[in-house]
Amino acid sequence: MDDHGSPQRRAPRRRASDVPTPPSPNGRPRRRRADGWLDRWMRTVADLDRLKDSHPMLDATIDEQVGRRIRIGDRWLTDWASCNYLGFDLDEEIIESIPAYVSRWGTHPSWSRLLGNPRPYLEIEERTTELLGSEDVLVLPTITHIHLSVIPVLVGDGTLYLDGRAHKTIYDGAMVAAGHGATVVRFRHEDPEHLEELLRANPPSSPRVIALDGVNSMTGNPPDLAAFLRIAREYDCLLYVDDAHGFGVVGERAPDEPCAYGIRGNSIFRHQGVSYDHAVLVGGFSKAYSSLLAFIALPSQLKNTLKVLAPPYLYSGPSPVASLATVLAGLHVNATRGDAIRADLARKTRRLLDALHRLGIHTPNTSGYPIIEVPLANHEEIDAVGRYLFERGQYATMAAYPLVPKDEVGFRIQVTAANTDEQIDELVDVLASLRDHFQLEQVPALAT
Ligand SMILES: Cc1ncc(COP(=O)(O)O)c(C=O)c1O
Repeated sequence: MDDHGSPQRRAPRRRASDVPTPPSPNGRPRRRRADGWLDRWMRTVADLDRLKDSHPMLDATIDEQVGRRIRIGDRWLTDWASCNYLGFDLDEEIIESIPAYVSRWGTHPSWSRLLGNPRPYLEIEERTTELLGSEDVLVLPTITHIHLSVIPVLVGDGTLYLDGRAHKTIYDGAMVAAGHGATVVRFRHEDPEHLEELLRANPPSSPRVIALDGVNSMTGNPPDLAAFLRIAREYDCLLYVDDAHGFGVVGERAPDEPCAYGIRGNSIFRHQGVSYDHAVLVGGFSKAYSSLLAFIALPSQLKNTLKVLAPPYLYSGPSPVASLATVLAGLHVNATRGDAIRADLARKTRRLLDALHRLGIHTPNTSGYPIIEVPLANHEEIDAVGRYLFERGQYATMAAYPLVPKDEVGFRIQVTAANTDEQIDELVDVLASLRDHFQLEQVPALAT
């Protein structure tokens, strides 16, 4: 940071071989001086490397946090990049649950799950099964672990039908599956008709898996699960859904629900009132529950098989005990206060969405869920937009090229229950002036 708190201008990039290598403690050089391999490799990732350097909101060091205010150097900003939707990361009841578990189980069991399961694992699986109303649940450290290990097992040498805007971690799971002999076919985002065309056109192979996001991590909108499930059942496929952003936020509908997110936060299948037949649901505790753990809701037979076929169950280090504690405490808080928290989250999200609408700023969010993407009309302005937000104290998630295609460049705001109404109003003021300085996408004119 310079004296005014603005991000420093970077010196021109030097080649790795230009940088003098400091001597190592044992007197030998740490790496060869002219490392042609490293220079060549750095050139292949130059776009991404430059991107990281040009955005103050990428790879930043956060020095301090108070509620949803964060300090970077000498600048305080409001955090809109957190996916801790329910504010459980700051909840005293949840924080206070940790020491008892750590004194009983230590900080980290070290066994992979196959080698030994501290009892909290079983409690989490039982309670999550009950919450979701699924046949069973298997938990692993992260959703990324699940995609990379479970998708290849499910698809085998069959065909994976992948949504065109599926999250990168699903895509990576698909690529591992391809490496094991699967065929990967992409269908247009949110387009069940296109999926059906592809299924009809391709020779039936077995097994066939359709993979997509639940609440989409960019648009904030859910898929029409009933339409995809109808296809999965008709063509005897398995529907594989990643609802990282819906779990904890949306849930089953009830006549006395305090808001349109539904109750209990038990994810998109329950919210849309569809069954788990021909489907598995993947979700995570690392967003709404602020804990490092993820789950797959699935038939018990499949769970037992995955225990020997999914490498993270066999080999990966487990989630820290503090995370097991905060998941269990989170499930308790969800049952006692979750619906009130969700009502507050829905209200705050609506406050921001209404303001965007009044300002004529377009967002693809039509769901009212707390992921609000603001696309840019000119992708080249993304650096300047990022700095504008940063300098006015707003910390958002930047979706810059080449992280996303040029026509999807923009920034994303996540509302959490721990953000205040005042913070929303300040953000709206900044967005109003941003709109006057940059080319944001305009709300499409209503057809007459
Ligand atoms: C849709 C989606 N899936 C998976 C992940 C990764 O989750 P995890 O941290 O549990 O691997 C993310 C994180 O951004 C996500 O948005």
